[in-house]
Amino acid sequence: MKHRFPGVVVTKFLAALSLVAASVALAAFSPAAHAQSVGDAQRGAKLAYTCLGCHGIPNYKNAYPTYSVPKLRGQHPEYLVIALQAYRSGERSHATMHANAASWTDQQYADMAAFLAGPVIAPPAAPKPVGKLPAVGQTCVACHGADGIGITPQYPTLAGQHADYLERALTDYKKGGRKNAIMAGFAGQLSAQDIRDMARYYSSQRPGLDTAKRPVR
Ligand code: HEC
Ligand code: HEC
Repeated sequence: MKHRFPGVVVTKFLAALSLVAASVALAAFSPAAHAQSVGDAQRGAKLAYTCLGCHGIPNYKNAYPTYSVPKLRGQHPEYLVIALQAYRSGERSHATMHANAASWTDQQYADMAAFLAGPVIAPPAAPKPVGKLPAVGQTCVACHGADGIGITPQYPTLAGQHADYLERALTDYKKGGRKNAIMAGFAGQLSAQDIRDMARYYSSQRPGLDTAKRPVR
């Protein structure tokens, strides 16, 4: 039994532990969490053509309010699938991305994510953070690393991401434009100044994310 239901055993075992420890351990040990989103980058390249109109142009801006379109290259594709599901369901309230995410299947998300992410930035054995972590950032490193590399495929890499986009995302978690339960809790504790400091800190980490590339023909 133990061998056949490791997820159940792990879940029970972890029930008493803190939110952070539990979610990190579950994501690391549950094979099901990885299985759903094995994407085919070649299929994704054909599907994601329109996405490049925004995500493939360096420093392209969202209009009203103005902030940078997020970098996707180097990101965990599993996380990109979760993000697309959140736009589709309305958990994230961005109207344009809801429209862009609405009409695809999860397999198509996985294919586009594999293509848009390209070679994933892996968490290094010995992180080398750039600059000094703000004091409020102590809690963030459990999931996003001190160097901004998401420590499991479900936790976004923040390194090198546009600072104004990170600021926008954190403000949305805090104010409810994004309803992710984990991040609402953490962002809710941050002041506007903390949010700016954390956005700048993670944006300056290297190696970092980059703008998605057009397919080689
Ligand atoms: C009109 C410009 C535009 C187009 C076209 C577009 N996006 Fe986006 N995308 C954005 C913006 C702006 C955001 C940030 C929204 C927010 O604030 O949550 C975003 C966010 C995302 C995210 C979340 C990134 C993160 O770090 O959480 C993913 C994944 C994504 N887009 C994938 C796609 C895919 C796949 C397509 C094509 C099917 C697409 N986008 C088309 C502008 C665009
Ligand atoms: C328990 C793990 C955990 C901790 C701790 C944590 N995060 Fe997150 N973070 C996540 C997850 C999971 C997501 C994706 C949520 C979603 O699907 O919208 C996320 C998303 C984000 C995003 C949006 C990224 C994007 O590409 O849109 C930012 C910015 C962020 N976190 C910053 C922080 C900061 C700053 C802290 C510390 C105050 C922090 N996080 C603490 C797990 C965590």
